Amino acid sequence: MLIRNERPGDEDAIHSLTVVAFEPMAFSDGSEAPIIRSLRKSGDLTLSLVAEEGGAIIGHIAFSPVTIDGTHFNWFGLGPVSVQPEMQRQGIGKALILTGLEMLKERGAHGCALIGNPEIYSRVGFESDGRLSYGNLDSSYVQRLVLAGPAPQGELKFAPAFEAEGHAG
Ligand SMILES: CC(C)(COP(=O)(O)OP(=O)(O)OC[C@H]1O[C@@H](n2cnc3c(N)ncnc32)[C@H](O)[C@@H]1OP(=O)(O)O)[C@@H](O)C(=O)NCCC(=O)NCCS
Repeated sequence: MLIRNERPGDEDAIHSLTVVAFEPMAFSDGSEAPIIRSLRKSGDLTLSLVAEEGGAIIGHIAFSPVTIDGTHFNWFGLGPVSVQPEMQRQGIGKALILTGLEMLKERGAHGCALIGNPEIYSRVGFESDGRLSYGNLDSSYVQRLVLAGPAPQGELKFAPAFEAEGHAG
């Protein structure tokens, strides 16, 4: 398996993969694939990595800028992240997340935040200390990973694409 940056021509495969990965998820409103297109269009797709095997895209992860109480702090949001359904639970998601975090760190990012299942993201170093909030959401779903500097406190806000297309989790 190869993990690489998205390149022109990958857009439709990333879209289809995201649709099929999120389709069975009860929490999904189907906004994830349009969010990726919208992030790309608005220039907020900071990092977009694909996992490729035998020429096929089997995994994808997006990172985009976030603010905390209105300030960017050089923090980024993780997601959407998708792995081809029949290839899940084989370490592909973890490899995409860890590669993405490493690349963000190399670019000088100070941290990464997300809304998601703590069971999955605690396995790759994310934690919830209750200092980040996202509306009224239970703070255990609001998770962060510090790459450099202090852990900011406040209300997490994702890029406008998330507001326009749907939710962030
Ligand atoms: C979430 C997703 C990207 C994870 O990718 P994956 O390749 O299946 O995950 P991995 O095999 O790399 O697992 C990473 C870790 O999370 C754990 N994990 C993965 N899926 C899990 C689940 N559904 N529940 C609990 N733990 C889970 C694994 O046990 C593993 O931990 P370990 O390294 O200690 O063994 C993938 O399952 C997916 O595409 N799901 C549908 C879309 C989705 O829900 N995206 C995330 C929204 S928050």
